[in-house]
Amino acid sequence: MIQLIRGFKDILPGETALWQHIEKTATALFSAFGFGEIRLPIMEKTELFARSIGEDTDIVEKEMYTFTDRGGDQLTLRPEATASLVRSYIQHKMYADEPVRRFYTIGPMFRRERPQKGRYRQFYQINVEAFGIEGPFIDAQMIYMLHTLFEQLGVHGTQAHVNSLGCPECRPKFRDALLALLDGAEDQLCSDCRRRKARNPLRVLDCKVPGCRQAVKGAPAIVDYLCDDCRQHFEVVKQVLTRNDIPFVLDKRLVRGLDYYTRTTFEIQTTALGAQSAVAGGGRYDGLVKALGGPATPGIGFAIGFDRLVEILAQQSDIQAPNPQLYIAALGDKAREMAFQWTLALAKGGLHVDMEHANKSLKAQMKRANRLKAAHVLIVGEDELAAGKGVLRDMATKEQIDLSIDNIIETLQQRLLA
Ligand code: HAM
Repeated sequence: MIQLIRGFKDILPGETALWQHIEKTATALFSAFGFGEIRLPIMEKTELFARSIGEDTDIVEKEMYTFTDRGGDQLTLRPEATASLVRSYIQHKMYADEPVRRFYTIGPMFRRERPQKGRYRQFYQINVEAFGIEGPFIDAQMIYMLHTLFEQLGVHGTQAHVNSLGCPECRPKFRDALLALLDGAEDQLCSDCRRRKARNPLRVLDCKVPGCRQAVKGAPAIVDYLCDDCRQHFEVVKQVLTRNDIPFVLDKRLVRGLDYYTRTTFEIQTTALGAQSAVAGGGRYDGLVKALGGPATPGIGFAIGFDRLVEILAQQSDIQAPNPQLYIAALGDKAREMAFQWTLALAKGGLHVDMEHANKSLKAQMKRANRLKAAHVLIVGEDELAAGKGVLRDMATKEQIDLSIDNIIETLQQRLLA
């Protein structure tokens, strides 16, 4: 038997209720904040990701699904959505008619990481991005939206971590200080970091190898090197969060695994998923639109790890697929034919209804109704049909009442469609 690919997974019918619930809650919230949906292809030219995420990142160096297609193009299954969003923003000149644009997009991403709990090779993200706003309120609003979504979903045990990574003006001073430290600890670094150090020393701060972690223990913090503008910007972000009762920790070690970030960065972290601590991550990328060929335009956004959020909620809530409101147990060909007509009209009217299509005994049909956890069963046998009635049974209270077959659709709708 052919099995699915390692690190990929099927999201089965029992699980999709939770996915739908999250998606519904999230899209309602983001729409209320003025974010509109955008849908993008899952494949782009490799160069787009290499240039935006950064050549020295784990994602671009080791994790992308990249191939040459039959026409000779270098293509990559998207490892994240921000690069594609920026590409689309520039390509369609979305800045031209309205400089401030807000989007959300939901879909699969692909990274060839080592699969484990909360980490997959095809995973899903809910991405939210805002273009054209430089001021710090939107940074706080992003974290506020994440906090509110988690609150609305009833997720607990998460913590917002925030940091600022500064701008091209403050980075060089920090880079020099970091390099001075790394030069003295060269032999402790892994081979990747030794190579990356000269080109992009910040990446060493993101390395998970124990030796590198040890080496950067006494590393300087970027927040201590911020220029006046960046410091002031970050101060306001923190003030607005505090004013709105959004708890957060200042995490001076938070550097994120993608190169495009500037200024505010953040993650929502949890202890509920073992080694995978981040349920969502994001930040500012004020230089990215320009770097990819668009006009200088600030940007900020985040992505929620959809799979991880589902896994946390599955532990903390019991949202399940809805059960039928009505199951029709029909006995005999004539009754079954009539019941089938009724199911068409009832389902069209919005009632969740089911019935047995094969010729089964009443006992077998009641058993099935129980298994489906149907709230009510309408029993229609030959005798009932002859008497022009059906019997409606409330499966919880076991109460039964007779219903006339005339107007049965309206009667059932009135009784069962709350
Ligand atoms: P990221 O931190 O790479 O950021 O990913 C965001 C979230 O996606 C993570 O916090 C995690 O929950 C989830 N995630 C990442 N990799 C996996 C995986 N292999 N399996 C399951 N879940 C995973 C970005 O992707 C940025 N584009 C976010 C962003 C948007 N920044 C600005 N705008």
